[in-house]
Amino acid sequence: MKMFVAFVILTHVSQHVSAVDMYEGDQFVLLHCQFPSYDVDTVMWSRSDLSPSTVHQRQQEGDELKNQNQLYSGRTSMKPDALDTGDLSLNLTGLTLSDSGTYTCSVRDGFGRQRRVTDVQLQVKERFPSWAKALLVLLVLLLVAVGLLVHFRHYFMSGMSLLLHYP
Ligand SMILES: *[C@@H]1O[C@H](CO)[C@@H](O)[C@H](O)[C@H]1NC(C)=O
Repeated sequence: MKMFVAFVILTHVSQHVSAVDMYEGDQFVLLHCQFPSYDVDTVMWSRSDLSPSTVHQRQQEGDELKNQNQLYSGRTSMKPDALDTGDLSLNLTGLTLSDSGTYTCSVRDGFGRQRRVTDVQLQVKERFPSWAKALLVLLVLLLVAVGLLVHFRHYFMSGMSLLLHYP
């Protein structure tokens, strides 16, 4: 029993979760996953909150992207020798806000046995939050207004004096 508990704890710890913070518009992010084993037949990167959930799939013959979610079309890649080296990291390019989520790296062996290797929590943040954008727009409008006032001050002045002298 003790052995069993220790085993459960060990497997739980070894299946680690990591978190990555990026910004919208960043060129790429590497989501790490390591599983050195000669048994790996298929690697699956997925997001369980999406349908279809497949982000990327690699088999012995190469990438298998038939069931890939449209959101990730043309934006994912893995090292060509991933299955040989066990470096199953996923390169995701052209980051957008909707890429935020939990990415699961799992492997399947030749007998169809599946195993979850790691979870990566990716958070893609806005480079300029909306309050900063609003503040910037206000500042620009204010500057333009002040600029116009200064530029046309003579017209304003003469208009005013005309009004004052010849009501
Ligand atoms: C990820 O892919 C992009 C585009 O192909 C490439 O420029 C970049 O170097 C790759 N990053 C890594 C760590 O392989």
